[in-house]
Amino acid sequence: MDVHQGRCAGEPLTDHYAVIGNPVAQSKSPGIHAAFARATGHAMEYRTILAPRDAFAASVARFAGVGGQGLNVTVPFKVEAFALARTRSARAESAGACNTLKREGDGWHGDNTDGAGLLRDLTSNLGVAVAGRDVLVLGAGGAARGMLLPLAHAGPRSLSIANRTAAVAPALADGIAVHARVDALPIDALSQRRFDIVINATSAGMLEDTPLPWPTTLFRPGAFAYDVVYGDAPTLFIRWARAAGAARSADGLGMLVEQAAESFALWRGVRPDTAAVYAAMREPQG
Ligand code: ATR
Repeated sequence: MDVHQGRCAGEPLTDHYAVIGNPVAQSKSPGIHAAFARATGHAMEYRTILAPRDAFAASVARFAGVGGQGLNVTVPFKVEAFALARTRSARAESAGACNTLKREGDGWHGDNTDGAGLLRDLTSNLGVAVAGRDVLVLGAGGAARGMLLPLAHAGPRSLSIANRTAAVAPALADGIAVHARVDALPIDALSQRRFDIVINATSAGMLEDTPLPWPTTLFRPGAFAYDVVYGDAPTLFIRWARAAGAARSADGLGMLVEQAAESFALWRGVRPDTAAVYAAMREPQG
C-alpha cells in the first residue's frame, strides 16, 4: 500500500479529487473536471462529497486518509476551508475564504480561484476591459470578498462595493485597502453614481419573486452587467439589468468554468482550455 497516494499495488495511478459542500449534488464541478482530465490526458477521479454542516474538517480528513489530492470547496464551507489550510495564497488571504485545497505533505494548501476565474471570464472570454472603468460590486459576502483584489489588480478607474447591510461593506473595503482602494457605498448613495461594470455578488435574485434593492440608474451607456449566479435561462439580475439599461451582460457560468481551470492548474500544473467545456455546459442538459 502506498500510504501517501492511498493506492494498492496494481491499481491504476489515478489521483483523487472532489468538490465538498452541503448541498453538493447539483454541482457542475465533476463534469467540468472530467472534461478537463480527458482533454489534458490526466488520469484522475473527481467526485462529490456531501459533508454534514458540523463535520467539514472530519470529512476532509477522511478524504485525505484515502489519498485525496485536492478539493474544491463550496457553500457553506469556504471560510472553514480557509481556517483549515496550513498555508494559503495571497488571494486566499485577501478573500478570507478558500474554494480550493491542495494536499501538500500532511497538510492542505488553500487557494481562492473565484476572483481569477471572474477576471479571466470578463477579459478573455467576454472582451470586457476592466482597466480604466468604474466598477461596482454588489454584496459583501464570500463571493464579493474573493473578487475584490483580482478586480483591483486589473486597474479599474474606481472600484466600489455596496451592501444591503451597510455596516459590512466599509469593514471589507478597509480590509483590502492596504492592497487597493475600494469605496464602500451605502445603497441609498447609488442613485448618485453611474458605472461601466456592475457585478452581482449577492444571493439576491436567486428567488425569482424577490424585488432587487438597487436603483435602476446604475448603468452608464454601454455598461456591462455580470451575475455570479448562472442558469439555463437569463437570471433575474440579468433581466433586471438589461431593463435598467445595461448594454451587455453575462451570467456566472463562465466564471465557474474558469475558476475550475485555475484549480485544475494548481493541482495538475497545466491550465486546460475552457472554451469547449463552457460550450458543452451551456447546452441545455437533456
Ligand atoms: P456568498 O458567500 O455566496 O457571498 P454570503 O456570504 O451569505 O454568501 O453573502 C450573501 C450576500 O448577498 C451578502 O452581501 C448579503 O447582504 P447582507 O450582508 O445584507 O446580508 C447579500 N444579499 C442576500 N440577499 C439579499 C437581498 N435580498 N438584497 C440585497 N442583498 C442581499
